[in-house]
Amino acid sequence: MCGIVGYIGGGQALPVLLDGMTKLEYRGYDSAGVAVVADGSLQVERRAGQMHNLLEALETRPMPGGLGIGHTRWATHGPPTDGNAHPHVDCSGRIAVVHNGIIENHDVLRARLEGEGHEFRSDTDTEVVAHLIESILREGEVDLRTAMLRTVNLLEGAFALVCISVDQPGSIVVARQEPPIIVGAAEGIGLVGSDIPALLDHTRDIVPLDNHQIAEVSPGSVRVWDFEGNEVEFETVHVEWDLAAAERGGYEDFMLKEIFEQPEAVRNTMRGRLDPAGCIVLDEVHWDKETLAAITKVVIVACGTSFHAGMAAKHAIEHWTRIPVELDLASEFRYRDPVLDATSLVIGIAQSGETADTLAALRFAKEMGAHVAAVTNVVGSSITRDADAVLFTHAGPEISVASTKTFLAQLTALNLFALYLAQERGAMTQAKMAETIEAMRALPEQIEDVLMLQDDVHRAAKRYAHVTDALFIGRGVGMAVAMEGALKLKEISYIHAEGYAAGELKHGAIALIEDGTPVIGILTGHRLYDKMLANVQEVRARGAQTVLVAPRGDERARSLANELFEVPLTKPLLTPILDTIPMQLFAYYVAKERGLSPDRPRNLAKSVTVE
Ligand code: AGP
Repeated sequence: MCGIVGYIGGGQALPVLLDGMTKLEYRGYDSAGVAVVADGSLQVERRAGQMHNLLEALETRPMPGGLGIGHTRWATHGPPTDGNAHPHVDCSGRIAVVHNGIIENHDVLRARLEGEGHEFRSDTDTEVVAHLIESILREGEVDLRTAMLRTVNLLEGAFALVCISVDQPGSIVVARQEPPIIVGAAEGIGLVGSDIPALLDHTRDIVPLDNHQIAEVSPGSVRVWDFEGNEVEFETVHVEWDLAAAERGGYEDFMLKEIFEQPEAVRNTMRGRLDPAGCIVLDEVHWDKETLAAITKVVIVACGTSFHAGMAAKHAIEHWTRIPVELDLASEFRYRDPVLDATSLVIGIAQSGETADTLAALRFAKEMGAHVAAVTNVVGSSITRDADAVLFTHAGPEISVASTKTFLAQLTALNLFALYLAQERGAMTQAKMAETIEAMRALPEQIEDVLMLQDDVHRAAKRYAHVTDALFIGRGVGMAVAMEGALKLKEISYIHAEGYAAGELKHGAIALIEDGTPVIGILTGHRLYDKMLANVQEVRARGAQTVLVAPRGDERARSLANELFEVPLTKPLLTPILDTIPMQLFAYYVAKERGLSPDRPRNLAKSVTVE
């Protein structure tokens, strides 16, 4: 999820690019770079780290010129270094490209281009685009737009691409397959941006490109084509938002925006990893079959929300691979003298990749000779240095302190990893694997479906916003959802909430229930469903108000619920990916009803880099 800006016009491109990139820095802040065409040459400046590094470098390097592109990066392929920062250029240094997304077949294309003599200078998937365009232009008699058209037809994956060339200084060429990109034109200028804030100072009339469209932007004009090369009509949208609202995509808070980004986050986590032939492809995992076959136990370590993802993953790994799994809080694991050896696989989960306890736990595991894997959202984060295999979640930056989309992405990545282990160890039949992969493919649309509960959850949240305590109960993977639901409510609404194993209630916690106590039950559609219903009846008999998450159309759940959030059916082990969403929305709206800011809860930091 990177930030892209483009400018063409009679003025200076650089200040417009830098201003737009600063406004888009919330989309990515691993590195930043610009390319400007002036006097028949292309000038490029790129720096790892936040925008101020680039700004410093540009202090001594003026870049005059009226055509340019800029990029703030959220790394997906290759660590966040100067060399991997965008824009990327072709061999001749006359074509520059910026990209948001993931090009899945970049390795095949790169090998082909290298075979033809192209020299690559970065580890990114993006650089293939610059060389492809170069090689098509070299064939002669085509313009930049046609070269882009031929290029996108060679690419697999997701991309918003923006390209400029010294040899065609009259326009910027843009292409979209999935990630959003907008273009616009005002008198004497043309603009491109991955998001509205980058354009707002110059125009409020924007053209959001549709999927599979190419645009050519020139001063005062926009033209659009489809991927077959037919010119198409387009709509211009007038934006009324102020800048702050535009940064949040029109949502009131980043947390709500990120909750609604979850279909895309999960899609991106799966991208390129579900082979059409019915197997899991994890390029990042280099252990051979023998090493994986020799694993005798898996240990998962994490903190907070990531720990809850680990709770669900324990069920998936044990069920699919039959390898025993231990689960530990990183802060406990590192001090408990755990038993590990070369047949142990330790998985650390940290969206930030910087949580001090999780890093220390993985370092310890490595010293003990265990195999170490990490699941993280941040390319180049510290956890990637300590792990032998890193599975990136590709959810894009998460701004809100409360994790939402990274949690769903972690669950998805961990399911992929569990299936991969099962596949490599021959622990699962082909038919079961294919069935599970199909269920995973359906998840992004099912998430969209669950998000339609927004208004129902909001209404329910209004009724419970005044409470002082709440109990969340579940069984199996539903317990991980209950724990996560309780954590969300605690951290942003400051209501005392407990996540509990429903079967444990009778052993103590049921004493907390009095008239009106809200009990949120996760009635995941699995073999423990009847037992959950019995637990719900028990708490109702003691005066609880029940808020239930249940599979759609179940009349028994309806008869026992004060509030019912119905979710579509999926495989039992995948249910947390759907069931968590009403919990996130519930916490969000309770916090709003209490007049609190969900994005910045008191006493908390996004990344806990100290013990
Ligand atoms: C989640 O909403 C919290 N902000 C917090 O529990 C978080 O999950 C925890 O600090 C772990 O962070 P990490 O995933 O970056 O390691």
